[in-house]
Amino acid sequence: MKRSITYYLSLTLLAGFVLFSTAEIKAESEVNTCLECHIENDIMPMDFHEDDVHQHAEISCAGCHGGDPLEEDMDESMSVENGYIGIPELADIPAFCGKCHSKIEYMRVFQPRIQTDQVDQYYTSTHGMKLKGGDKKVAQCSSCHTSHGILPAKDTRSSVHAFNIPQTCNQCHGDAELMASTGHGTSQLDDYAGSVHGKALIEKGDTGSPACNDCHGNHGAAPPGVESVNHICGSCHLNNMEYFKTSIMGKSSESAEYHTCEQCHGNHAIYKPGDEFLNVHESSLCLECHSEDDEGYVAAETMYMQITQADSLYQEAQLHLHDIQIKGMNDVDIQYKLKDAKQNLIQLRTMVHTFDPIQITEKAGEGKQLSQTAITLAGLEISEFNQRRLGFGISTLVFVLLAFALYLKIKQIDNNKNITN
Ligand code: HEC
Ligand code: HEC
Ligand code: HEC
Ligand code: HEC
Ligand code: HEC
Ligand code: HEC
Ligand code: HEC
Ligand code: HEC
Ligand code: HEC
Repeated sequence: MKRSITYYLSLTLLAGFVLFSTAEIKAESEVNTCLECHIENDIMPMDFHEDDVHQHAEISCAGCHGGDPLEEDMDESMSVENGYIGIPELADIPAFCGKCHSKIEYMRVFQPRIQTDQVDQYYTSTHGMKLKGGDKKVAQCSSCHTSHGILPAKDTRSSVHAFNIPQTCNQCHGDAELMASTGHGTSQLDDYAGSVHGKALIEKGDTGSPACNDCHGNHGAAPPGVESVNHICGSCHLNNMEYFKTSIMGKSSESAEYHTCEQCHGNHAIYKPGDEFLNVHESSLCLECHSEDDEGYVAAETMYMQITQADSLYQEAQLHLHDIQIKGMNDVDIQYKLKDAKQNLIQLRTMVHTFDPIQITEKAGEGKQLSQTAITLAGLEISEFNQRRLGFGISTLVFVLLAFALYLKIKQIDNNKNITN
């Protein structure tokens, strides 16, 4: 296909026109002497990021710091008469951000659903209360968000994205010198990073696993109280909490100082639990509060026995299944039973949170029944296999005998021929 020269010429002209006109529009709205001069003089703030939300929303330097972004002269641009406020004091930063973020009419223009309660929330937190009291070590808006590299929380590069939150908090919480006078430890990140949650988030990128702010809150960051720990863990571990609430230990947790998820699992260093948690003859965590022959001790002992029995019967059934598969026999029904038995084991380990040995014994009974049925079915398949093998053996024997008889017969005929010759 051939195009004429005029075609290309007009296309180039058109493109040139579009480029020129957009460049002009841009130049007009993007006059920003603050940015230009600061870039030119290499005095940009260290944390500046070109994708900063405020830059994109054309709020830019003067939106926060005041001054006139159309003035080329520094003294004019950064003059008090032109509204320049300079660098805010730490204690003034919440109000500094809040002049926009607390105003619903203003914020709605940009994002209809953005919240405007960050400053109020912040002053309910330990950080906020301490800042008000003159403490300069605590987090204010910029400590978590930065000042010039602010990105929406869902952007993976944002300092408040789940992937980066542990490091953002750890700037201070891992700093022994900073924390020395507060009485807080500095091992939260190390403990968390080694935990099931930390590994899932940091190593596997699973954002369903909690980061610091999922348990502590964003703006109202505070250690969860006794009543709220169960709710926080329970917001993700729904069944564990439902069972726990029905237990005697769970019920008393609403008033007493003990019986929270944290008491048995910890807060930052949460590891994969196992049946051994219940083993009173070794390192059961129940022994911390229960002693031999009290009800809790007996409950742990019974639950441990039931669950481990159900588990070993399941393992045994798995071996039978394996055998069946090697022999190439029908494994469909056995697999079906074992899938249910596995589900039963998962449920049992969650149901532990009823701390009720009767319910566990009943449930474990169902699991054992399933594994037992699987073993029986496997037995039937094995005997069918043996029968087939026996049948095959007999027919082979008959065949061999027949062949031998035939051989004798041929030999006899041959002999007879030789005699007559
Ligand atoms: C012609 C150059 C120029 C222009 C235009 C300019 N600045 Fe600056 N700005 C500077 C220089 C140089 C400094 C560092 C020296 C100083 O602190 O006086 C500075 C410092 C600052 C500081 C730090 C002040 C401090 O106390 O350390 C802020 C904040 C700032 N500028 C914001 C702005 C804003 C906002 C605008 C636009 C409204 C702007 N600047 C326009 C050159 C400029
Ligand atoms: C979202 C509000 C906001 C915007 C927009 C903003 N700043 Fe700032 N800036 C702050 C806050 C808060 C501080 C003080 C806390 C700190 O140092 O991070 C600060 C501190 C500074 C400082 C001194 C400390 C440093 O990091 O060097 C300079 C210089 C500065 N800003 C320049 C600028 C320039 C230039 C722009 C435009 C490119 C700009 N700011 C845009 C909020 C803002
Ligand atoms: C001049 C008004 C103004 C000031 C001052 C201001 N912001 Fe903003 N901020 C905005 C607007 C408008 C948006 C929404 C931009 C958009 O979505 O296009 C925004 C967006 C944000 C977002 C992203 C919200 C999201 O998840 O989409 C964060 C975080 C944020 N600002 C934090 C701050 C912090 C921290 C400060 C103080 C250091 C501050 N802002 C100061 C106007 C302001
Ligand atoms: C202790 C850290 C921390 C401090 C201090 C903090 N923020 Fe945030 N902020 C967060 C986190 C974490 C998120 C993201 C939540 C999420 O995942 O959606 C967030 C989200 C936001 C958003 C997005 C909209 C929203 O509410 O979810 C805005 C706007 C915002 N913060 C403004 C502020 C302002 C203004 C201040 C100061 C008053 C402040 N933040 C102080 C951690 C903090
Ligand atoms: C700029 C430093 C800084 C950053 C960043 C920071 N914190 Fe803090 N935080 C502190 C300091 C200092 C204290 C101690 C205040 C005190 O008790 O004296 C504190 C206290 C706390 C407390 C309250 C402890 C108590 O017993 O009341 C919690 C919870 C907390 N921070 C969680 C977080 C989380 C979660 C993040 C990240 C989203 C975070 N912090 C980010 C400095 C920071
Ligand atoms: C799975 C939920 C969870 C996660 C994730 C979590 N915490 Fe905690 N955190 C807690 C609970 C529960 C407490 C204990 C409250 C108590 O015992 O009084 C606590 C206590 C704290 C305290 C106060 C006590 C102390 O240790 O000094 C700080 C500070 C703290 N956490 C910071 C963090 C930081 C930083 C992160 C992220 C690296 C984090 N937490 C992650 C649940 C969590
Ligand atoms: C934001 C949701 C969320 C919150 C809040 C949460 N968890 Fe988790 N938890 C998870 C996820 C997701 C996993 C699975 C991680 C993995 O892939 O190994 C998990 C794993 C666990 C495990 C290991 C389970 C196993 O079989 O390996 C335990 C125990 C646990 N959490 C206890 C807690 C406790 C106690 C709390 C409260 C202090 C809590 N969780 C808060 C989401 C959460
Ligand atoms: C009294 C001690 C105790 C308390 C309190 C407790 N747990 Fe457990 N938890 C255990 C034991 C023991 C196991 C291991 C069961 C097994 O593997 O046989 C376990 C296992 C788990 C598991 C892994 C098994 C599963 O269900 O996937 C999770 C998740 C879990 N607990 C979460 C929680 C949550 C959430 C709470 C609070 C609502 C809580 N636990 C309270 C003792 C406790
Ligand atoms: C932090 C201490 C603590 C730990 C750890 C603990 N318990 Fe308890 N448990 C108690 C207390 C206290 C009671 C009495 C509750 C009440 O009556 O208010 C109790 C009650 C019980 C009861 C009900 C007894 C009754 O009076 O009916 C059972 C069952 C029980 N615990 C089982 C367990 C098992 C199983 C474990 C280990 C997985 C365990 N507990 C771990 C403190 C603990």
